[in-house]
Amino acid sequence: MRAAKKIAIALLAGLLLLIVALDIWGALTLGSITPAANPVIDEDANKVVMVFGATGSVGDGLLEAAVEDPDVEKVYAVTRRSSPRIEAGVAAGKVEMLLHEDFTDYSGLADILAEVNTVLWGLGTTSVGMDDETYTWIHVDFPIAFINAWLAARTEGPMSFHSVTGMGTDLNGAQHWAREKGRAEHEAAVLAEGSGLRTFGYRSAFVRPTSEQANVLHYLLEALARPGALVIPAKDLGGAMLEISARTTELANGSLIDNADSIAFAQAYKERMGR
Ligand SMILES: NC(=O)c1ccc[n+]([C@@H]2O[C@H](COP(=O)([O-])OP(=O)(O)OC[C@H]3O[C@@H](n4cnc5c(N)ncnc54)[C@H](OP(=O)(O)O)[C@@H]3O)[C@@H](O)[C@H]2O)c1
Repeated sequence: MRAAKKIAIALLAGLLLLIVALDIWGALTLGSITPAANPVIDEDANKVVMVFGATGSVGDGLLEAAVEDPDVEKVYAVTRRSSPRIEAGVAAGKVEMLLHEDFTDYSGLADILAEVNTVLWGLGTTSVGMDDETYTWIHVDFPIAFINAWLAARTEGPMSFHSVTGMGTDLNGAQHWAREKGRAEHEAAVLAEGSGLRTFGYRSAFVRPTSEQANVLHYLLEALARPGALVIPAKDLGGAMLEISARTTELANGSLIDNADSIAFAQAYKERMGR
């Protein structure tokens, strides 16, 4: 009993230390992009949106943002399975679910890809307990195969690819996951050079799941992790992506968006939408 208590206290202390370290890191590093005050908005930039990872904690919010955006006419969810939000979107006529198995092969989707303006990529998972090869397959091979297929099907902009890579992503980092996510960001931007596509990596810290998916632990972590800089609701992250997409002349291909930047663009999006 005593040992269990000691372990619980040590775990709690470790968690608090981690959060304090993240808060300090966040305070020192976050927020380098200010959205233009009088932006040029292309209302056609998000006409057709494709969402990946829509069954996940982040992707559910990205899907919610796309479905609720009045400028978005159609949303494709490319997925291995359905979810309540996908089902509701299909029933409402705005979402089409594309059941997909091999995320390195999009040859069957060329006609649809030719229509797509904006891709919100929330597909990904933790590196904990996963071998390096599988991690690379999911976080590099999947998005790069997709971008190659998309550019083969469509080259005319505006097109934008928004991927949630995460805080700590670093092409030259010490950890395999950080380097591979950095490589995915970099290779995506290189592929897009000279085309109508802009790619963005979102180095988000803590993305709060939608109310349907969040639990007490999420809210506790959020309260500890300095709301206002390190936390963004998943739907707001989707709003930030749609805003950056609509500002077709503002951010260059390959821009990296940290959590505070996402919060700033999410706020700009809400103001533009009158929310
Ligand atoms: N949550 C955060 O606070 C946070 C913060 C920063 C960055 N991120 C990054 O955002 C990404 C998504 O995180 P999450 O928290 O939303 O994860 P999640 O809840 O586990 O969702 C993962 C999503 O990716 C899909 N997926 C995973 N492996 C797949 C595979 N092999 N083939 C096809 N689809 C696959 C899942 O589909 P199924 O439902 O079919 O399994 C699901 O839609 C990750 O890369 C994560 O590192 C998350």
